Amino acid sequence: MSRSRTIATAAAAALVLGLSGCGGEGAGGGGGGAAASEAPEDLVIGVAMPTQTSERWIADGAAVQAGLEEAGYQVDVQFAGDDIPTQQQQVDQMITQGADALVIAAIDGTALSGQLDAAAAAGIPVISYDRLIRDSENVDFYVTFDNYNVGVQQGTALLTGLGVLNEDGSPGQAEGPFNVELFAGSLDDNNAQFFWDGAIDTLQPYLDDGTLVVPSGQTGIEQAATLRWDQGTAQRRMEDLLTSSYAGGTRVDGVLSPYDGISRGIITALQNRGYGGADNPMPAITGQDAEIASVKLIADGVQDSTIFKDTRKLADQAVVTTEAFLAGEEPEANDTETYDNGVKVVPSYLLDSDVVYADDIQPLLVDSGYYTAEEVEAGQAS
Ligand code: BGC
Repeated sequence: MSRSRTIATAAAAALVLGLSGCGGEGAGGGGGGAAASEAPEDLVIGVAMPTQTSERWIADGAAVQAGLEEAGYQVDVQFAGDDIPTQQQQVDQMITQGADALVIAAIDGTALSGQLDAAAAAGIPVISYDRLIRDSENVDFYVTFDNYNVGVQQGTALLTGLGVLNEDGSPGQAEGPFNVELFAGSLDDNNAQFFWDGAIDTLQPYLDDGTLVVPSGQTGIEQAATLRWDQGTAQRRMEDLLTSSYAGGTRVDGVLSPYDGISRGIITALQNRGYGGADNPMPAITGQDAEIASVKLIADGVQDSTIFKDTRKLADQAVVTTEAFLAGEEPEANDTETYDNGVKVVPSYLLDSDVVYADDIQPLLVDSGYYTAEEVEAGQAS
């Protein structure tokens, strides 16, 4: 369904039903509500995604929409261009147009409390998608990956790329010392701290025994952070690091990067300084999301690794969770301890992720149908 038609339908539904969730007490209040007795085709699910500048969120938006439509629901998907007021406005509008459930991947996890209060007042269940919405009582469920473990995988991949570990986790031949630099994600995204903690806990013993050295001395998450996960911001920081800490022939051996877009910024900065030639190899650079441009860089030996988080599985989980809420049931959680959003521990369903090195592209990404071999070859989704 086209977006304009979806919205028109949503508006019509809102007129007929009033705020259709109003009759219910909301998922947080024990489930059920007006929605439980309605057919899926009479129900509208609002899906708020952060941005279309990253492939991952485009894929998430498409997969959630397809899954919900297949389950029979009407769907209103909105992307907010990484702009917080735009996302607030989009969620406000979904609520006033009578959404029956909300699936939200927040830009700033602390900026949606007002919207969530309104959703709760209207009895609309809220599912936090991939990123935890913080500082609100009214987050009913969280579907995500095991974010701490993603960080462990990134730290392990950096050590593997340096040859300190082998791919099977056993000790490798290389002893160092290796010069590494550390990048973190956007601090308004709850995930950034989890990725960082998992990675740093993994790297700390090697920092402590001198196997790894951070010549810039920038080892705190605030120093390493990248606002909005922005590629250009990461490129500028890498350029600054090269200028300040790598004069006179000191080489960067590895870079911890939490996301493929950040990795591409880092790679551009390094290439501009002559890295990537035969006598000046690229450092080992990690990533996340298996974005197609980065998968090609891995195939070409430019980036060392990424983390594959199968957005199809996350979308399926969002659909299953939505269906449970709208049937007046409690969705199944597999973690009820980890994700404290500052007000409460949000019941969560965590999925597994995989490290992708060059050898893993075929089995993990192509054989599973995530990309075609042609897309990997072109570095572009078709
Ligand atoms: C997601 C990552 C993604 C990052 C940047 C995080 O919240 O979990 O998969 O790389 O945002 O979009």
